[in-house]
Amino acid sequence: MKNKVSIIGAGMTGSTTAHWLAERELADLVLVDIVEGMPQGKSLDLRQAMPVIGSDVAITGTNDYEATAGSDIVVITAGLPRKPGMSRDDLLTANADIVRKAAEETVKRSPDAIFVVLTNPLDVMTYLTMKVTKLPPERVVGQAGILDSARMRAFVAMELKVSVENIQCYVLGGHGDEMVPLTRHSNVAGTPLRECLAPDRLEAIVNRTRKGGGEIVSLLKTGSAYYAPAIAITQMVKAILMDKHLIVPASAYLRGEYGLKDLFFGVPVQLGRSGVEKIIEYKLDESEQSALQKSADAVRQTQDALLHLVKI
Ligand code: APR
Repeated sequence: MKNKVSIIGAGMTGSTTAHWLAERELADLVLVDIVEGMPQGKSLDLRQAMPVIGSDVAITGTNDYEATAGSDIVVITAGLPRKPGMSRDDLLTANADIVRKAAEETVKRSPDAIFVVLTNPLDVMTYLTMKVTKLPPERVVGQAGILDSARMRAFVAMELKVSVENIQCYVLGGHGDEMVPLTRHSNVAGTPLRECLAPDRLEAIVNRTRKGGGEIVSLLKTGSAYYAPAIAITQMVKAILMDKHLIVPASAYLRGEYGLKDLFFGVPVQLGRSGVEKIIEYKLDESEQSALQKSADAVRQTQDALLHLVKI
């Protein structure tokens, strides 16, 4: 039996995710979008690439949720991206309706699926998805931490001229300007990052990481990043489908971990076939814990705004 992954929103991130997933021959894919013809056209184009790379996956594009029935994983990327000058939270009102509909329409056709959310504001849209689908928290997870950590890894690699493969970085917290790059837990082939970089260079990288999404939005002017977000989703989908027990930072529902409750928030999780198998609690020092608390306060504020906006 082949795996089936449905991607809701066939825009830049959705279609790039389909591209990475199809190339890895991980699952049959369904791309759903509200724009008529677009998901059909993109999926046909992608399907015509498969003979060249030798991947036997079916790729369907549609405006109808019926085709998503029986999915193992549902990826939600539908929604508006940021424009220059906007914060992710500015997308709340527009994207809450879109994500709610996507979650409702997919869960009734794929009640056993695991949901991976990408739409911003990320942590709160993941919370909305859990509430709307009424799925257990382990079956709903948001992508942010792999992306934010990959940005930091890329910046460190550029600075030190060392292979990206040697660099491990961990960015936790909400997917916003208050995210928490954990420099103490990051390393270059085992050497602590703080020993590899002068404090001012490290601080510059931390700041650039925090604003990494905004930097791309201001350059693109008409949309936000999609290659790195899409490969981050792909890593999560692969970890789930292949039951890898992979530990990555991702937005998970907290029930007391890190002193936080009733909140989706970026923490290290272990991903496998059942979804979020485990939340890993790092031992944090006082300043790290207080930075996480500040980030959690920002997510909570947006979550409260969501709860005023929609009845869930
Ligand atoms: N149902 C299905 N698809 C929808 C709906 C809907 N109700 N509303 C919008 N969409 C589709 C759009 O038609 C578009 O094709 O969602 C797609 C979003 O794609 P892009 O505009 O290219 O945005 P993208 O860069 O992929 O970002 C999507 O992810 O990273 C976040 O902030 C980003 O919230 C944004 C989301």
